[in-house]
Amino acid sequence: MPKLTIEELDKLREKAVAKLRLRESGENRGKVTIHLGTCGIAAGGRQVLTALLVEVEKLGIKDITVTTAGCAGLCSREPMATVELFGQAPVKYVDLTADKIKKILAEHVVNGKTVKDYALAIGSERVG
Ligand code: FES
Repeated sequence: MPKLTIEELDKLREKAVAKLRLRESGENRGKVTIHLGTCGIAAGGRQVLTALLVEVEKLGIKDITVTTAGCAGLCSREPMATVELFGQAPVKYVDLTADKIKKILAEHVVNGKTVKDYALAIGSERVG
């Protein structure tokens, strides 16, 4: 994937924020949070966020919120993301890369199937 400039990333974020406002009317199916604490950023969390935003845009997904949060408390497993779809337990994904978040988007967010290979926990239950 070509490297994005700060300006391009800002434009993507502005678009995402604009869509978020539109979605506040109730069409939202859920949320993907990329954890960007110091540890998440150091481990490549920004690249994971960028890949996710680019893919959401490419696939024309309009009913999911992409957001960021601080450290999820497991520095050694960063980059991490939490996928929360309404009516389902939240899933924490760990050791992410750009390719892994794209797979999570396609399989979990779009098709509703948890990617167990990358999941650390579903709700409060550990996977594996
Ligand atoms: S910055 Fe990740 S646990 Fe402290």
